[in-house]
Amino acid sequence: MKYARIIGWGKYLPEKILSNQDLERIVDTSDEWIYSRTGIRERRIATPDETVTTMSVAASRAALAIAGLDGDELDLIIVATSSPDYLLPAAASMIQHELGAEHAAAFDLRAGCAGFVYGLAVGTQFIATGMYHHVLVIGAEIISKFLDWQDRDTCVLFGDGAGAVVLQASEEPTGLLACCLGSSGADYDALFVPGGGSKYPFCQEVLDRGWHHIKMNGRRLYRFAVTTLPQVALEVLAMAGLAPHDITLLIPHQANARIVQSVCERLEIPEERVFINIHKYGNTSAASIPIALCEAVEEGRLNPGDHVLLLGFGAGLTWAAAVVRWGVPELSISRLFSWNFIRECVPVSEATVTARRATALLTVLTHCLWQLFPGGRERSL
Ligand code: UT7
Repeated sequence: MKYARIIGWGKYLPEKILSNQDLERIVDTSDEWIYSRTGIRERRIATPDETVTTMSVAASRAALAIAGLDGDELDLIIVATSSPDYLLPAAASMIQHELGAEHAAAFDLRAGCAGFVYGLAVGTQFIATGMYHHVLVIGAEIISKFLDWQDRDTCVLFGDGAGAVVLQASEEPTGLLACCLGSSGADYDALFVPGGGSKYPFCQEVLDRGWHHIKMNGRRLYRFAVTTLPQVALEVLAMAGLAPHDITLLIPHQANARIVQSVCERLEIPEERVFINIHKYGNTSAASIPIALCEAVEEGRLNPGDHVLLLGFGAGLTWAAAVVRWGVPELSISRLFSWNFIRECVPVSEATVTARRATALLTVLTHCLWQLFPGGRERSL
């Protein structure tokens, strides 16, 4: 069985910021109410030109650059989204085209805000069985286009964005070590868009009733999250042979800071080991965990060997918990000489680039020596 190491990460957030003060001018709400009830200060809103596809492509290019891969080296693209550009075809196919991933299979995955962790689990399975070597997993949403901007129960909560990771087959025990996925379909109407699907296809009545907008029962979701997440967190930790204190960083779905606080209290995980960026982006649904993961890496919050707990929940209702062991990206010769990688990671002088290439080359050579003489590696560790 192979492991699926995360070797690249990227994110894209639209430039346009919508603050709580801006919302005060649109609906009957206040910065005080929104911040105290949710932890949100502002969110990003896509322009009419931005789509799930354009945002995903931007996030994926950043992830591929870090991984040192070209699009045509991908075997599979999974896009977790509930707001694709079209009902047909999948956004994944258009993303595949834009990335030049001509050898990749591609499909969308719908599991609400838990979708990215579902995608990580699915991508990992394809790698574990040996079927694929490189898998791109994306979480991307433009929920703003499904909001009723007169409905203060929902319009203050959501934002737009995309995050992506590249998985690579590896012998080292890194990447997703355990996961726990589930669904409670009896609660499907706690968060849904009633119209526009095959049950109520678009027609004047759908528009008149506002069924093309998101309907949400916030209290039901809140109760679901604070009861389900601690249970599944303990379950997945047990599957990985870990306890809450072994977790370096908890990256929860960014739906509500109070939900996160409640879950952390139950798991006794201190707040310094929790990653929160909801104040900047609001709830970006399936994009929230990959965006947060990407920012956590950029901020130096993860080191090789660290254990990360991902906790997602959302429409379905679904839940997804995963334990990921962070690994050192394997340096390959192609990665070393990839201009994408150098441009993305090393915005410095030519001399520094050369020095870093030399260091990286040494690392690759050392790695090869370790492969040839594993005993020497154990002694050096
Ligand atoms: O990605 C997963 C999807 N979503 C979630 O996970 C959401 C989970 N739920 C929540 O985050 C919270 O339930 C909300 C933030 C949505 C709501 O917070 P709450 O503390 O549960 O508020 P509530 O729904 O109980 O409403 C309390 C009051 C109500 O007024 P009355 O009936 O007490 O007079 C609401 O009408 O707050 C009112 N209210 C607002 N007031 C100002 C609701 N929305 C707003 C608003 N601004 N935007």
